[in-house]
Amino acid sequence: MKLSAFGEKYTGRSGIVDLMTDLGEALHTNPDIISMGGGNPSRIPEAEALYRKHLLSLVESSDGVYNTLGKYQPPQGDEKLLEQLASLLRNEYDWPVSSKNVAISNGGQSAFYVLSNLLAGRFSDGSIKQIQFPLVPEYLGYTDSGLEKNFFTATRPTIDILDDHVFKYRVDFDNLKVTESTAAFCVSRPTNPTGNVLTDEEVRQLDAIAVANDIPMIIDGAYGTPFPNIIFDEVSPHWNNNTILLLSLSKLGLPGVRTGFIVASEEIIQAYAAANTILNLACGNVGPAIAGKLFEDREVFELSKKVIMPFYRDKAFNTMDKFILAMDDLPFYVHKPEGAIFLWLWFKDLPVSSARLYEILKDAGVLIIPGNDSFAGLDKDWAHAHECIRVSYAQDEEQVSKGVEIIAREVRKLYK
Ligand SMILES: Cc1ncc(COP(=O)(O)O)c(C=O)c1O
Repeated sequence: MKLSAFGEKYTGRSGIVDLMTDLGEALHTNPDIISMGGGNPSRIPEAEALYRKHLLSLVESSDGVYNTLGKYQPPQGDEKLLEQLASLLRNEYDWPVSSKNVAISNGGQSAFYVLSNLLAGRFSDGSIKQIQFPLVPEYLGYTDSGLEKNFFTATRPTIDILDDHVFKYRVDFDNLKVTESTAAFCVSRPTNPTGNVLTDEEVRQLDAIAVANDIPMIIDGAYGTPFPNIIFDEVSPHWNNNTILLLSLSKLGLPGVRTGFIVASEEIIQAYAAANTILNLACGNVGPAIAGKLFEDREVFELSKKVIMPFYRDKAFNTMDKFILAMDDLPFYVHKPEGAIFLWLWFKDLPVSSARLYEILKDAGVLIIPGNDSFAGLDKDWAHAHECIRVSYAQDEEQVSKGVEIIAREVRKLYK
């Protein structure tokens, strides 16, 4: 079969596809393998009970089945839901948004794909523009979204050592460059894979640079405010007309409904809605219907702050303590857990690459994500990129403890 350039791109080598295939195969070959690799959210009984209640009420109400399953919604999404979310954001954060600033998507991943290709890539005058990550490591899932090659540029962060085993990345403003070909900034806040949360001051500075250069700033809030709000310290949510905020129901524990939201200028929302109609015709209705219930009476805020966030915060700090106890003698650091559902471990001067460490750990019975694919857009290789791994602590306590032990044992062997 001869494929188009588009076909070649989407069937060629891709870090994320290789990794997801390999993770799937590893689980198939060894069902007992400890899975600290994937991005699945945890099962949280209280949240699950709430979703069950809302699903049942949808099915049982007289027009519920028809409204949810029997019709297409308009390109931007159900007008009532758009207004519900806009009014939540106005009331909670005082953001100047109306339903014209909101659109529904089939998840954050597909929203990013559409928006990033609307903003960057090849222009009608032949020029090419890129999305800039002001701080890498960034979300692995962005890496292959661009229709053009070299779709991303990135700036290395500075590294702050906070104590014997804890560090934090910061945006290196001295080396952050915006050029003619910068199409937009993109940050996930909190960041997958590191659990970093950009400080208010970093966001303020990035916003000022973006506005001054007339480029939008994409803030991917898949783990952020207003939901699921998996942020462990107080930080301010950010939005203005230059911001493209991406939200998702996935990390509330609903990845199966494939629902996300975009909050942006009217111009961006209209462009997105047109492109999304061509790609998807309309978005699914089940996730938005559940969201409508969660938005009533601010339930989603209570759920996020009182159930989801504390659940992950406790797990994050417990798992970090376990790692520090198990590897106190090694030159190892963990990124300060500030949010999201992962820990990011850095093994300084690791004698093998993180890709090799992934294989070693897989053979030893634990799956992690090697860090090297999370540095898209850097123009030069960076040794640090091969010394880090991402571990998820979403599994139950016993599995996580076993995983920590195996990782510590195998890494210790490498340093001997
Ligand atoms: C930072 C980030 N953005 C977007 C996504 C995509 O999420 P979804 O398409 O499930 O909304 C993920 C998924 O893990 C993520 O970690």
